[in-house]
Amino acid sequence: MTPRTSGPRPPVRPEFRPPSFTGRLHDARTATAVGRWLGAAFAVCFLTGLVSHYLQHPPDWLAGRLPARPVWGYRLTQGVHVSTGIAAIVLLLVKLWTVYPRLFVWPPVRSVRHALERLSVAVLVASAVFEVLTGLLNIAQWYPWPFAFVPAHFAVAWVAAGAILLHIAVKAPEIAAHWGRRSPGTRSLPAADAVDRRSLLLGTAAAAGAVTLTTVGQSLTPLKTLDLLAPRHPDHGPQGLPVNRTAAAAGVSAAGLGAWRLEVAGPRPYTLTLDELRAMPQTAAALPIACVEGWSVQAHWAGLRVRDLVERAGGRPGTAALRVTSLEVSGSYRVMEMGPQYADDPLTLLALTLNGSALSLDHGFPARIIAPNRPGVLQTKWVHRLEVL
Ligand code: HEM
Repeated sequence: MTPRTSGPRPPVRPEFRPPSFTGRLHDARTATAVGRWLGAAFAVCFLTGLVSHYLQHPPDWLAGRLPARPVWGYRLTQGVHVSTGIAAIVLLLVKLWTVYPRLFVWPPVRSVRHALERLSVAVLVASAVFEVLTGLLNIAQWYPWPFAFVPAHFAVAWVAAGAILLHIAVKAPEIAAHWGRRSPGTRSLPAADAVDRRSLLLGTAAAAGAVTLTTVGQSLTPLKTLDLLAPRHPDHGPQGLPVNRTAAAAGVSAAGLGAWRLEVAGPRPYTLTLDELRAMPQTAAALPIACVEGWSVQAHWAGLRVRDLVERAGGRPGTAALRVTSLEVSGSYRVMEMGPQYADDPLTLLALTLNGSALSLDHGFPARIIAPNRPGVLQTKWVHRLEVL
């Protein structure tokens, strides 16, 4: 049989060519420079996030040891957590832009080690994006997902922390080479590279600074006039204070409060009407209310010292813990417990007034808890029962 020399030829498959990137800023030096800031931001978020988590959900061995001082402690750590998380969004976007050409490395997998390394990078990117995205939507109180925010954000924070440490270990040679003022081979790079990199870093710092300045006023109240982008403004709300959970959302109505009594359970249980509570000696305290979602504001509260109520019910001062129950129909914080260090603190109040007038219904009328160095979700509103433990 003679070989075929003419006729239609089979189509030639073009050889695959990965895209080539000519941008000069997608290099290890820029990745190191932005990575340093991003790593610092994630470290701050991780540590302050742990503080917030363990203040809200302490294991038994820790519950009695959490400090009630400084009174503004949680205000500071949670304000820093949310502000740094917001700035990290900018840093993460720039970092991912810097390294995205590496998504197209060819061949995509060179060895088992390389495959594992790429897998760890996928986990790193997914967990980092998950953390900043869920955090951002949470401060806007928008939950477009079927899982509970707190356990998911907490668990993925550990994944992200582990993935960042692994990433730093894998990239250690590049990081070390580009950490200092001069990278190897810098001299041979065109001067424009340094100028471009400086511009990118300045732009990144300016963008991170701008989002911080326009949101940080929600907790750093001297800057509240600049608070243009945060979901909450520290002055907006009844009695000059924001409200996260309204009485309507909690299923509490003024109509149902006619027969309200405070029940105090303990070795010597008793009940008190609102008029009786008002007739007792009142204590005033200036304490911040600091929300887990980042906003916080100092306010003036007055009411009864919790430790006096506990003592009257037969609780031993300094050793009795307290369980507080709200009139809320449902909600994860309907029942709250505080250790003896808070229950015995002279600043922990069953507050009846806020900024000089009776609590509004949305702020917890007829009585709410206010205690030093505690997350806002534990400052129980619409209190109707105290139980000395
Ligand atoms: C949330 C934190 C971080 C994320 C999401 C992240 C993301 C990434 C990604 C996706 C890559 C490309 C990986 C590859 O294909 O090899 C990369 C590379 C790199 N990262 Fe990170 N990173 C983070 C933190 C850091 C930190 C803290 C540093 C150092 C201070 C750093 C330094 C580097 C370096 C030097 C490279 C290599 C760039 C190159 O060779 O061109 N990264 N990063």
